[in-house]
Amino acid sequence: MTETSKRPLLGVNIDHVATLRQARGVDYPSPLAAALLCEQAGADGITIHLREDRRHIQDADVYAIAKQLTTRLNLEMAATEEMLAIALEVQPYWVCLVPEKREELTTEGGLNVAAQVEWLTPYIKQLADAGTKVSLFIDPDDTQIQAAIDCGAHAIELHTGAYAECGLAKDTAAEAEELERIRNAVRFAKTQAPDLIVNAGHGLTRDNVGAIADIQDIYELNIGHALIADAVFVGLAEAVKRMKAAMQ
Ligand code: PXP
Repeated sequence: MTETSKRPLLGVNIDHVATLRQARGVDYPSPLAAALLCEQAGADGITIHLREDRRHIQDADVYAIAKQLTTRLNLEMAATEEMLAIALEVQPYWVCLVPEKREELTTEGGLNVAAQVEWLTPYIKQLADAGTKVSLFIDPDDTQIQAAIDCGAHAIELHTGAYAECGLAKDTAAEAEELERIRNAVRFAKTQAPDLIVNAGHGLTRDNVGAIADIQDIYELNIGHALIADAVFVGLAEAVKRMKAAMQ
């Protein structure tokens, strides 16, 4: 496979398995079992978001999954002191810093890195010194990309939510514009910092993932909601395989 035909890796976000469990306050379905099944089905990594309100993933899930995963754990979290202490103890392969609002249904926008360079630079350094790589979830915006580079982030994850929403609204012109915005952001990031890893995610489905997977230099896509939704009908392993196929 040549460099130009390289496809992105698939990170599966399993938060919604925990959402289902929390809805009943029982101990099933198990996010750990789901993570291991996704790995067996071909996922290249597992993403979990430990939210401050613990609405889905719980602390015990983080420790259990970190211990048993054979691929790479990507721990999404807000850049708080509480989360830093947990991440330093768990030492996931990746931490992805995200903005967090208690009233939101899901992560709504990218992190405003440019406004928090002084806070984020030593925060990222502490994680890096402990051996964890840090990614920042940002909008496809040059100012935010440059700020992420300035903070010493190892990776950025470009927010594809606006692109996904245009597709849902069947606004093809706006969808093409958002796609171009993401392409330009990847190009800018790789020009400014060739070693920076560029990931993407949010709102990706089997229908809209192809165009994003086609963008050269995107390393990994993190996908949760649509994949877990597919799993309701076809099972988790098949849903992972179908998403990987859609990315080819
Ligand atoms: N990446 C980040 C940083 C996220 O916060 C989320 C949602 O938790 C995702 C990817 C996955 O988004 P979706 O569930 O819409 O696929």
